[in-house]
Amino acid sequence: MTARRCRTAVLISGSGSNLQAFIDRVADGSLDIDIVVVFSNKPDAYGLTRAKQAGISTACIEHGDFETRELFDRAVARELDTYDPDLIMLAGFMRILSPWFVQHYEGKVLNVHPALLPLYPGLNTHQRVLDAGDTHHGSTVHFVTEELDGGPRIVAGRLAVKPGESAKELQHRVQAAEHQVYPQAAQWFGEGRVEYRDGQAWFDGELLADPMVIDFD
Ligand code: GRF
Repeated sequence: MTARRCRTAVLISGSGSNLQAFIDRVADGSLDIDIVVVFSNKPDAYGLTRAKQAGISTACIEHGDFETRELFDRAVARELDTYDPDLIMLAGFMRILSPWFVQHYEGKVLNVHPALLPLYPGLNTHQRVLDAGDTHHGSTVHFVTEELDGGPRIVAGRLAVKPGESAKELQHRVQAAEHQVYPQAAQWFGEGRVEYRDGQAWFDGELLADPMVIDFD
């Protein structure tokens, strides 16, 4: 019997360039997961078009139709659970998740955040890095917990800030880095090398006190 490929749901709200990186890696054989559904809370998210072009099932529920965050999240989970996912990847999904959703999928939800966490949780990270005069910036893949951008970190892509670089240029380079590290993290999760246990991230059975770091130009 062949092992089941990691059934993965990708949640988006916008462009879906990270989703495209997953699609491309699955196509070239370097990412061995099964993207079973792409879900968006926005019907006009370009990522839905990317999914359809790749022949992946899509689903969309608009959050404005729900009275509370949890009611929306329960509707999302009802939809996702019809695909029996092993892994949920947030890829530019611009919603804060309810505690109910996080507990329902405990240890199965990954996010990528455009900063070297724990620095700069929240929005507008590139400008904040420039304003602070930081020498380095990057993007971090982490397990999702109830703390916003605060779950156990797995891997970070790091780059040196260039003199005179604009926030836009920095964002571009950070995104290129996350298109490498996020598929890598998904591959490790699918292989069972990365796990969430006791509220912490583990790699090959060793506690990841700090994330692994991959340096980019
Ligand atoms: C990425 O930069 C990611 O770090 C953040 O949202 C952005 C999504 O971009 N969480 P895309 O939709 O994957 O192009």
